[in-house]
Amino acid sequence: MSVNVGILGGTGAVGQRFIQLLDGHPEFELTTITASDASAGKAYREAAKWRIDSPIPEYVGDIEVRATDPSDVPDDVDLLFSSLPSGVAADVEPKFTEAGYVVSSNSSNSRMADDVPLVIPEVNADHLNLIEVQRDERGWDGALVKNPNCSTITMVPTLAALDNFGLERVHVSTLQAVSGAGYDGVTSMEIIDNVIPHIGGEEDKMVTEPKKLLGSFDGSEIVQHDVDVAASCNRVPTLDGHLENVWAETAEEITKASAEAAFAEATTLDLPSAPDPLIEVFEDPDRPQPRLDRTIGDGMQIAVGGVQETPAGIQYNCLAHNTIRGAAGASVLNGELLVEDGWV
Ligand SMILES: NC(=O)c1ccc[n+]([C@@H]2O[C@H](COP(=O)([O-])OP(=O)(O)OC[C@H]3O[C@@H](n4cnc5c(N)ncnc54)[C@H](OP(=O)(O)O)[C@@H]3O)[C@@H](O)[C@H]2O)c1
Repeated sequence: MSVNVGILGGTGAVGQRFIQLLDGHPEFELTTITASDASAGKAYREAAKWRIDSPIPEYVGDIEVRATDPSDVPDDVDLLFSSLPSGVAADVEPKFTEAGYVVSSNSSNSRMADDVPLVIPEVNADHLNLIEVQRDERGWDGALVKNPNCSTITMVPTLAALDNFGLERVHVSTLQAVSGAGYDGVTSMEIIDNVIPHIGGEEDKMVTEPKKLLGSFDGSEIVQHDVDVAASCNRVPTLDGHLENVWAETAEEITKASAEAAFAEATTLDLPSAPDPLIEVFEDPDRPQPRLDRTIGDGMQIAVGGVQETPAGIQYNCLAHNTIRGAAGASVLNGELLVEDGWV
């Protein structure tokens, strides 16, 4: 089976990751790339300032970049990935869904909208059924599905595993790589020899998105999980890979051994980009580390280590590659689920 796919905003940092991940994909054939009007009409290799450490696939370099407008995208594109700036995406994505396209989006707009599925396939695949509600309410033939923020996606699969014990409270402190801010996001003068203890909007996403992701779909809406999350987000001078220190409290007693077993047994799926296991548990207390461990499972695995009992529950460290599992890889995995479940 081959599904024709396109990328909205395919010349940017996340767009380039999409291209890397889609090259040789067993189900998806990349046929269409859009960007701003400044790039439209150019060959991809002229339009994109390529910054990924593998070459632009030959066939992609030849693709003519199109305008980000439904009238400029061929009808035979079955699935669109979106990596547009969120302000642009908020305006443009509904035009594509209205025109009948299914959009798997990485942009942050609409993630918390009541009728938009926010999905990590291994955690809440059934939330895709919210598409029925979305289509009824908005009159769309297409569909809009989001993946969460890169720091949320690093932590939530571990929280889903701990919810077997009745998850009640979570405190998290993040050490987030500079690539999460985009190429122009943080200057070298700001970040070398430094840590910035604030990332605008990030703490709010860490508090709100897990409640939706861990919630349940009751047939008409997502009933949010009542876990309390407190987050402190820090930008640190690593290139890729968000490391997070998590303290979790559960209703039932939890031990280091039972937590590690729950992590190791986390749900895995039979989808091309789904890693197995989902969570790799390290015994060595100084792992995971961004430079050593961010590419495990081709960048799609969550690494966990430093599991310890605390008076109120457990603490641990988790790590994921922020532009693969946290961005483009997350949207591709959602696309695979959309195909598997018959929405595409
Ligand atoms: N960077 C990360 O690690 C990361 C992680 C998670 C989520 N995200 C989210 O992913 C999205 C993309 O981030 P990014 O870092 O890839 O951004 P980026 O490098 O600035 O790329 C933006 C893309 O959107 C296109 N674009 C900009 N303005 C446009 C317009 N008015 N109409 C049509 N296309 C337009 C650009 O095309 P041109 O090349 O023609 O300008 C480019 O292809 C953002 O919503 C961001 O919050 C990023």
